[in-house]
Amino acid sequence: MQAFQLTQFGIDHLVPHAKPTPVPAPHEVLVRVQALSLNALDLMVIQGSVPVKLPHLPICDAAGIVEALGNEVTTLAVGDEVTSVFFPQWKEGTPTAAQTDVSQRTGVGLPGYLAEYVAVPATHLVRKPANLTPLEASTLPIAGLTAWNALKYTQLTADQTVLVHGTGGVSLFALQFAKARGCRVALTSKDDAKLARARELGADFTFNYATQPNWLEELRDSTDGRGAEAVIETVGGENLNNSIKAVAIGGHIAIMGLLAGTQASINVPALLAKQARIIGMQVGSTEDFLAMSRAIESSDLHPVIGQVYSVPEIQEALRSLEAGRHFGKLCLTF
Ligand SMILES: NC(=O)c1ccc[n+]([C@@H]2O[C@H](COP(=O)([O-])OP(=O)(O)OC[C@H]3O[C@@H](n4cnc5c(N)ncnc54)[C@H](OP(=O)(O)O)[C@@H]3O)[C@@H](O)[C@H]2O)c1
Repeated sequence: MQAFQLTQFGIDHLVPHAKPTPVPAPHEVLVRVQALSLNALDLMVIQGSVPVKLPHLPICDAAGIVEALGNEVTTLAVGDEVTSVFFPQWKEGTPTAAQTDVSQRTGVGLPGYLAEYVAVPATHLVRKPANLTPLEASTLPIAGLTAWNALKYTQLTADQTVLVHGTGGVSLFALQFAKARGCRVALTSKDDAKLARARELGADFTFNYATQPNWLEELRDSTDGRGAEAVIETVGGENLNNSIKAVAIGGHIAIMGLLAGTQASINVPALLAKQARIIGMQVGSTEDFLAMSRAIESSDLHPVIGQVYSVPEIQEALRSLEAGRHFGKLCLTF
């Protein structure tokens, strides 16, 4: 079988190696990987800005089918369609530091899924939502679950407005989950064509942050002067101050993004005036994943997949992610 093991950092070094198909240990299952989705984190791992031990099997998010069971596995069966979990030790509630330690993150401290077959503990997988294809299900573990939990933490209710920045994976999941709850969605993008696609998905107010410098004022006008009760802060860095300006008094900002940098100097008086809460996000637990899957099934929600590459095109797919050309998720199929 083929596995794209990283032996040196850099997209160019991601090349296939022939490997024996793994044999599952007693607590493991053998998964035939059918689809993967890409996240900004995968790029950071492959480029070496998030340190991992080499050789490393990258890519955090995948969906596949169980082909064989170790003799202690009772929770899954051959033929089950499954999805990876990013924090396999974080089962429910508030995690301990050990449960979310870097060493316990799929595709970072733990091996990822960029191989035709992987042998993983059965507890590192969940069944995929029945209404989704494996390709669609591969988008859930990081982007889907982060957006799901961001809406939970911001306590968004049906009559309220959520602001999402850009049209990447997390933002479009937040748009879809919010619309499924009957909320209003405001969305920004640098690209008018992407804004038009977001309106087709239900975005109520759209702003081009590159060509509409007054978009924050326009957002306030669109919300009767209140601003957005929830902001999904996928950009980070100094954009956090835009989110503080955009949030309504008493609102919530869920921050997960590092796209514009890992540091921000907060305009404290502006935050005080908003009496807003800022919440840091760390994807979510297995319990949250299962709650999200039930909601996806009951509302028959289908993730937005911008482009699908074949696994041998992994380098091209990563470069496209890096350039920010995509709308929604970038995926790969075997
Ligand atoms: N902490 C966590 O639990 C967690 C989980 C998931 C993701 N993340 C982080 O969250 C961020 C977003 O993830 P993602 O998977 O959604 O990324 P993504 O799919 O790569 O989306 C990025 C999009 O953000 C928009 N963007 C970039 N710069 C912007 C700016 N200055 N203002 C407004 N929009 C901007 C662009 O959309 P347009 O082209 O439409 O402008 C871009 O396509 C990343 O930093 C990722 O590492 C963190």
